[in-house]
Amino acid sequence: MLLNIPGHPELCKIVLLNPKGGSGKSTVAANLAAYFASRERRTALMDFDPQASSMRWVHNRPQDRPYIYSVAAFATNPRVTRSFQLRIPPEVRQLVVDTPAALTAQRLSQFTRGAHAILVPVLPSDMDIHAVSQLVADLLLVAKVSRRMGRLGVIANRVRENTLAYRRLMRFLESLNIPVVARLRDSQNYVHAAEQGLGIHELPQAQTAKDLESWAPLIDWVEQRMATPLTPRDLMSPLQAVSGGVLVRPAAVQPVSVPEPGPQAPEAGLPPARRFDPPAGRS
Ligand SMILES: Nc1ncnc2c1ncn2[C@@H]1O[C@H](COP(=O)(O)OP(=O)(O)OP(=O)(O)O)[C@@H](O)[C@H]1O
Ligand SMILES: [Mg+2]
Repeated sequence: MLLNIPGHPELCKIVLLNPKGGSGKSTVAANLAAYFASRERRTALMDFDPQASSMRWVHNRPQDRPYIYSVAAFATNPRVTRSFQLRIPPEVRQLVVDTPAALTAQRLSQFTRGAHAILVPVLPSDMDIHAVSQLVADLLLVAKVSRRMGRLGVIANRVRENTLAYRRLMRFLESLNIPVVARLRDSQNYVHAAEQGLGIHELPQAQTAKDLESWAPLIDWVEQRMATPLTPRDLMSPLQAVSGGVLVRPAAVQPVSVPEPGPQAPEAGLPPARRFDPPAGRS
């Protein structure tokens, strides 16, 4: 989708997905955005969830921290086109997309198309395991995300390793044949960081050593995905994918497709997205 926007040939898109509420989508999205920004990469965070957790996080972010461009994609503005509303500055290299709970199977491909990495955080509970099995089925069958492309990864979130629920979750995830790219502890560090508009990589290291350790494989996996160029298959719509690509129009003339706001999107959201230019005095 957004990769078709002229001027963004080098944009890497990471999408957080799980229609089950509270699984950690916004937490991981904010922490990834903060990580990239703190590594001096121009980063944007796009929030499709009317609850606006990611937008609130960005607005809480201290001025002296590396700047993150934010887009309230859940909001509608009848005065401008959808593409214009979702525009991001050309210098942005990392785009992290936070999606809402209760996303329908039909809307999944709007987010997965053109993504370098699709991350699904999942909690260790029976209800969450059930929900994620449905999600993975929808991703594979409806959105036509292919396991072979290796873009899909699961994050076991809020785990306490010596529990039955954790072991059950890991057994289930292994059975899916989709990589479990990280196991994140249940840790108040995420809560404290979020309250301050920070990522855990920006908290004092003495406090976060264990969490940083659990993030290392996640960062490695995401970096590898981003270093793997997208193929025409990654950019296909589900219909094109099932037809083996024969319906595909040449990439250059494919229309830009951008996700529509969800049904419950408010007329006006949080304040408009800030410009990427850092305020005076900031590097
Ligand atoms: N690893 C973790 N340790 C402790 N708390 C966590 C962790 N991950 C997420 N949380 C907390 O769990 C709650 C839900 O997380 P989050 O908002 O990221 O989920 P979500 O999937 O975005 O939810 P929604 O579907 O409602 O948007 C938040 O209060 C967050 O601070
Ligand atoms: Mg959220």
